[in-house]
Amino acid sequence: MRTLIVYMTHHGTTEKVVEKLTELLGKSTTEVVNLEFDAVPDLSRYNTLIIGGSIHVGQIQLGIKQFCRDYKQELLKKKLGLFICYMNKEQGKQEFENAFPKELRERAHASGLFGGEFLFEKMNFLERFIVRMVTSEKKTTSAINYPAIAKFAASFVV
Ligand SMILES: Cc1cc2nc3c(=O)[nH]c(=O)nc-3n(C[C@H](O)[C@H](O)[C@H](O)COP(=O)(O)O)c2cc1C
Repeated sequence: MRTLIVYMTHHGTTEKVVEKLTELLGKSTTEVVNLEFDAVPDLSRYNTLIIGGSIHVGQIQLGIKQFCRDYKQELLKKKLGLFICYMNKEQGKQEFENAFPKELRERAHASGLFGGEFLFEKMNFLERFIVRMVTSEKKTTSAINYPAIAKFAASFVV
């Protein structure tokens, strides 16, 4: 069974999550595509597709939305996993629903809300300003939900 993980990231947290998922799913059978840099391979080569991104100002990366739109018919035929990295605990469920089309969410084998990080050293001035305006966080904080990642990955390992 081959798995493809398709993702995008701003400051590297989603990439960290993807590395953990790859380790849990098995490095020899899992391939990874960062839509910012990599071409989309032939999806017919994979039984399992996992798609993830992060929420910034309420939205997942546009590239993730576009990928879901462009490949929807193929994705509907796969064992599908969807996840987000995010930091707003109250809005997480809503942000997830907004991130992925209803048809894919309903068809998904597993859904993940994996928490996230505020990495102030990687933010530009505007990003720092936004985060300080909408949260009380002032320092780099990590709130990645590793048990949720492990549960999500375990559901794909037969
Ligand atoms: C400028 C900025 C805006 C953000 N907006 C949101 C938001 O609207 N909702 C939310 O849940 N998290 C928000 N976050 C938190 C990110 O989702 C979190 O930092 C995530 O771990 C980023 O992952 P990435 O490094 O893979 O992009 C925001 C973070 C930044 C820096």
